[in-house]
Amino acid sequence: MNFELTEEQIAVRDAAREFANTELLPGVIDRDSEAKFPAEQIKKMGELGFMGMMVDPKYNGGGMDSISYVLAMEEISKIDASASVCMSVNNSLVCWGLEQFGSEEQKEKYLKKLATGEKIGAFCLSEPEAGSDATSQRTTAEDKGDYYLLNGTKNWITNGNSASVYIIIAQTDASKKHKGINALIVERDSDGFVVGKKEDKMGIRGSDTHSLMFTDVKVPKANRIGEDGFGFTFAMTTLNGGRIGIASQALGIAAGAYELALKYSKERKAFNKHLSEHQAIQFKLADMATKIDAARLLIWQAAFLKDQKKNFVKAAAMAKLFASSMAQEVTSEAVQIHGGYGYVKEFHVERLMRDAKITQIYEGTSEIQRMVISRELLR
Ligand code: CAA
Repeated sequence: MNFELTEEQIAVRDAAREFANTELLPGVIDRDSEAKFPAEQIKKMGELGFMGMMVDPKYNGGGMDSISYVLAMEEISKIDASASVCMSVNNSLVCWGLEQFGSEEQKEKYLKKLATGEKIGAFCLSEPEAGSDATSQRTTAEDKGDYYLLNGTKNWITNGNSASVYIIIAQTDASKKHKGINALIVERDSDGFVVGKKEDKMGIRGSDTHSLMFTDVKVPKANRIGEDGFGFTFAMTTLNGGRIGIASQALGIAAGAYELALKYSKERKAFNKHLSEHQAIQFKLADMATKIDAARLLIWQAAFLKDQKKNFVKAAAMAKLFASSMAQEVTSEAVQIHGGYGYVKEFHVERLMRDAKITQIYEGTSEIQRMVISRELLR
């Protein structure tokens, strides 16, 4: 792998950085306090091509590689992780899943609008009693001939209220266990589909996390992704790629907190010298920068393998496992370097520390990543 970025990759990274600083930074503290979804900003991200970066241009996407995508995710996440999770789910789970496994008709009808951000997508796997244990789906998709009858509840759904296209994972034949699960595309205005309450979260408060309820929702057979029973494999395969996006989110959160701490250490004086002149702070900065670089290399490795169409399952899980725990450590140290200022909203690092936690939970907890890694090592 060549570690030197191409001109195109550098341009994408710089455009994302510019957008984050000019469009996402203003108001980010208020949006966090008010738990306000960054709707206008996401619209602009769609117009700039950040919502369907890797999608083939024939479906209105950017046709970019995964390295460009992770670079953009890192920059957006440095400033606003609530915007970046919306971007990550739309790009890595919904657009990628549809492009890889959807029918031509589904790509024409849904992917083209999702890739431009005209529509936002949601990926709906988690349930009140099936988060990590994804085979235990209680939501049912009963086969009724021409259509499926969908009943059940999904929880903690990112883009839950802002989406208009939802990929729902549901059980059709429980006797077949994970081979009886289907992935269905459900439109927002379907009869019997209700968006439930918004979650009041610790971090990524601007992101739009809801429960969803389905009562006798009729889903045409044409909206099933892949063959009958393909839903669990669809979800697992799609999540493998999604983990690269969330690892990049963790990286961006950590790098954002580090950059703020570095700047602050050069401005703030204590004991007659700048914080940056104290060895205790220098060592912290050295450790933070080293961990950030290590996470970035793991992420680039996973993105590179994905682009090479090689097995990236282990690499993606390793990147997410390491980057998400690194983000805990680095954001906490950034707060520490800021002292009392770090504990108040105005200085941003307390928000980044709260935002970091979710990266150890969604798209598979750290325990799940260890399961995925060890399965790959042992098989
Ligand atoms: N990639 C591809 N296939 C996989 C896979 C992977 N990483 N992991 C399992 N599979 C396949 C297996 O090969 C097997 O298929 P076959 O029978 O055809 O061989 C099938 O899935 C079942 O495997 P297991 O019996 O091993 O399944 P399991 O129940 O023991 O555990 C698991 C699998 C890895 C724990 C899985 O359930 C898992 O990843 N859970 C976490 C789910 C998750 O990430 N949830 C987050 C919700 S989405 C989200 O957070 C989005 C958001 O809003 C930000």
